[in-house]
Amino acid sequence: VNIGLIGYGGVGKAFIDLLNEKNIKWKVRYILKSDGAIIDKEGLDLDEIKRFQDNIKLHKNWIDGAGFEDIIDIDIDFLVELTPTNMETGEPAISYIRESLKRGINIVTGNKGPILKDYRGLKRLAEKNKVNIGIGCTVGGALPSISGGLIDCAGANIESMEAILNGTTNYILDQMEEGEKTYEETLKEAQELGIAESNPTMDVKGYDTAIKMTILANVLMNENISLEEVQLECIDKVTVSDIKNARMRDCKIKLLGRIYKDNEKVKIQVGPEEIDKSHPLYSVEGKNKGIYYRTDTLGDITIIGGASGTMNAAASILRDIIFLNSQYVIGNTK
Ligand SMILES: NC(=O)c1ccc[n+]([C@@H]2O[C@H](COP(=O)([O-])OP(=O)(O)OC[C@H]3O[C@@H](n4cnc5c(N)ncnc54)[C@H](OP(=O)(O)O)[C@@H]3O)[C@@H](O)[C@H]2O)c1
Repeated sequence: VNIGLIGYGGVGKAFIDLLNEKNIKWKVRYILKSDGAIIDKEGLDLDEIKRFQDNIKLHKNWIDGAGFEDIIDIDIDFLVELTPTNMETGEPAISYIRESLKRGINIVTGNKGPILKDYRGLKRLAEKNKVNIGIGCTVGGALPSISGGLIDCAGANIESMEAILNGTTNYILDQMEEGEKTYEETLKEAQELGIAESNPTMDVKGYDTAIKMTILANVLMNENISLEEVQLECIDKVTVSDIKNARMRDCKIKLLGRIYKDNEKVKIQVGPEEIDKSHPLYSVEGKNKGIYYRTDTLGDITIIGGASGTMNAAASILRDIIFLNSQYVIGNTK
């Protein structure tokens, strides 16, 4: 398998580490960053890349100022796209992905921007060019929420989904319960521990979960819902007494995403909800995540796990490539 990598930040580095650690003999022909690239059409030496990980510009193959136009014609089977997310435009990822699909290159990405913006268009382009697009990393990373729906629920109709998809908010709510601390105190601690970002808006306001639920509805239920249609409530209004009251009833408060049908119209709702012990996602703890699908013919299916982290996210990229490559080998995609 020949690979090109765009984006060499937390997940990109973890992906190269993973190929090294697992002794996977795929060829990485280039790594593109925002200000240059390293290229070796015979395949880069991954051990050597590891040595220059913290300053890739010192690598002998570094080409300062190289851009997408310098790598797009290099022959690869898979582009791993891991640039920062831009929710408004999907750029630069969406252009990179479109151009690569047109050239018959399979895509595996962790970037929610282009998928939220134009999953249908990208999928159509992939089909036209007889390639595939793997997006497992965009929704819950290591939690197989996309493949669980696409592969393990194949042939069934998914009637509704409930999910806990944001490790940061789950951690904050758990800590508020355990330590009986306020939301503000717990958020500060989580920031000090590096679990919550310095600007936690995307997580605690529920946008991150809303984006992931929108992708799930659009990909698994063939909808065309926009983020603005999601009914959204954030967790900063949850108080210690709400949590204590819930506990007295043997319940927990979780930031829950819900996709449901209202008179056959698919709707998405995200917000803190009290769930009891009988709920399939009651045991989702700490940085873990979970998803619960209700289907017409396969019954109810729940998947829990897939903690957050760059290595876990990189492992989900690896999973998508292995899966798509097996189809590729048996001739389903090219
Ligand atoms: N972190 C996670 O655990 C996680 C989990 C699931 C999904 N994701 C998604 O995966 C993607 C990568 O995440 P990350 O944490 O690895 O991000 P990151 O640490 O910010 O790294 C982003 C990389 O993209 C490069 N880049 C920026 N603009 C570029 C451009 N125009 N052309 C080429 N390269 C460009 C950056 O290069 P420079 O270094 O030169 O700026 C950097 O190497 C994001 O979309 C993120 O949302 C992340």
